[in-house]
Amino acid sequence: MNRLRFCLNGQWVEDTQVAPTTTVLRYLRDQRGLTGTKEGCAEGDCGACTVAVVENGPDGKPTYRAVNSCLLLLPMVQGKHVVTVEGLKPTASAAPHPCQSAMASALGSQCGYCTPGIVMSLFEATYRSDMQETWKMDDQLCGNLCRCTGYRPIRAAAQTVAGTCPPDAFSTALEASAPESMALAYETKTQRFFTPSTMDELFKVLHHHANARVVVGGTDLSLEVTKRFEKPPCLVSLEGIASLKTLSESADGFSLGATATLSELEAFAESRLPAVARMARYFGARQIKHRATVGGNLCNASPIGDLAPVLISLGVTAVLASSKGERRIPLELFFTSYRKTALEAGEVLARVEVPRPSASAKSMAYKVSKRRELDISAVACGLYLQLNEAGVVTLARFAFGGMAATPKRATAVEQALLGQLWNEQTVETALQSLPSDFQPMNDHRGSAAYRMSVAENLVRGFFHETRGSHSPPLLPQHTATVQPPAAGEA
Ligand SMILES: Cc1cc2nc3c(=O)[nH]c(=O)nc-3n(C[C@H](O)[C@H](O)[C@H](O)COP(=O)(O)OP(=O)(O)OC[C@H]3O[C@@H](n4cnc5c(N)ncnc54)[C@H](O)[C@@H]3O)c2cc1C
Ligand code: FES
Ligand code: FES
Repeated sequence: MNRLRFCLNGQWVEDTQVAPTTTVLRYLRDQRGLTGTKEGCAEGDCGACTVAVVENGPDGKPTYRAVNSCLLLLPMVQGKHVVTVEGLKPTASAAPHPCQSAMASALGSQCGYCTPGIVMSLFEATYRSDMQETWKMDDQLCGNLCRCTGYRPIRAAAQTVAGTCPPDAFSTALEASAPESMALAYETKTQRFFTPSTMDELFKVLHHHANARVVVGGTDLSLEVTKRFEKPPCLVSLEGIASLKTLSESADGFSLGATATLSELEAFAESRLPAVARMARYFGARQIKHRATVGGNLCNASPIGDLAPVLISLGVTAVLASSKGERRIPLELFFTSYRKTALEAGEVLARVEVPRPSASAKSMAYKVSKRRELDISAVACGLYLQLNEAGVVTLARFAFGGMAATPKRATAVEQALLGQLWNEQTVETALQSLPSDFQPMNDHRGSAAYRMSVAENLVRGFFHETRGSHSPPLLPQHTATVQPPAAGEA
């Protein structure tokens, strides 16, 4: 299809003129006069621009997802249903939506600038059926900032509606609002945007357009548009290729599709890969996690990307695909230098394969940042350890982010642990090798000395935290990176 087409508050709209790098936020405000959706930061941090998009949930059924419209380029909602705050009260005579009433009753709004975005996060929460755990309330709201009201009344409003799933027009509409095909070959005078539906089509586009850049969630790439005002001439989205999104399990392990989102990964990993689930919990906010993808996080090759350390620690293989076929490399070799990967021209990351962790392995992931939610890591790590029956270390994979130009293993520390009893003394001796693994940099997130000290303490924390069980789950009111040992375990 060569025209943009999506459903806005129940009405299908089409466009053939608008630039493909127009964000949904700008389109709503500038072209449709829907100014209820606000712009705060234009970089995914404040949530003022939150809208809901209908996506297929893990059970295959359509579900509302709160997303940041400031990072969403128009072709990313091709064939999808979008609901804005104006859509919650479709006619002048209609009653406010329960989440609007809840905000009003709880006195959850003062200047009101953040309110439409918060209401849209509550809108998603209203129709979620998995809001039983209390931490999910914080997770739902942590992508929405409010400078005036304070969060107690906003949280009270959230508690009133979250998970209520009222059998109203929005529930009924969901059934008929499944995303349609995203297939797109859209061109304006200066820009192109392709969304192929198959790998063959993808490779053809990449072959014919040497300047093409791959995009999926856009939570990294869209910032080039909104912050640096760049206009990429040719973007190719992988979102239309179903096979790249699959999360699956086999006897050998797990396959994580490159375009699976972080919220899909978090749900999948919760019972299967607790270390990955723990890292996913503190990855961005819910609006970001609904768009951010596994592949995007690895391919941006950021030294502080949160997935790489935990996946490297699990011994993951990256599967790269091109018109020539597939090739496999260990994930740790995927990162070749600062923000550079082993991807060649015409190649994409298709999936990563996670070998099934040994039942007796100790595996954990940690992230240290200035605040707990929605922040960038100063240091992150994935730590994986196998012991024999005598308690001697037979395998150690300790991977760190924020300590070097690429995510990297602490091979000297690992070597020092091999063949040793896993006890406090061994840990301290092995940690003396950390300076030969890393010479971290000083920056505004932390000095080199701070990063070294954090890295050391995370290994010590890992030792203590995994004493009692191999991969303890997070406490419901989790407040620290490393959890204290359970009573009697110290
Ligand atoms: C507010 C905010 C909070 C964030 N919080 C975190 C956080 O807590 N932790 C963290 O690690 N990151 C965070 N990020 C960064 C970002 O969300 C992640 O890196 C995300 O996983 C990127 O995925 P994406 O699909 O949006 O990537 P995109 O922006 O679509 O793409 C990113 C890059 O990867 C390339 N690419 C994407 N997929 C493929 C593929 N399959 N094959 C080849 N190339 C590909 C693109 O060409 C592009 O260069 C945050 C970003 C924002 C805006
Ligand atoms: S404008 Fe702040 S998150 Fe979009
Ligand atoms: S009510 Fe003013 S910013 Fe939230």
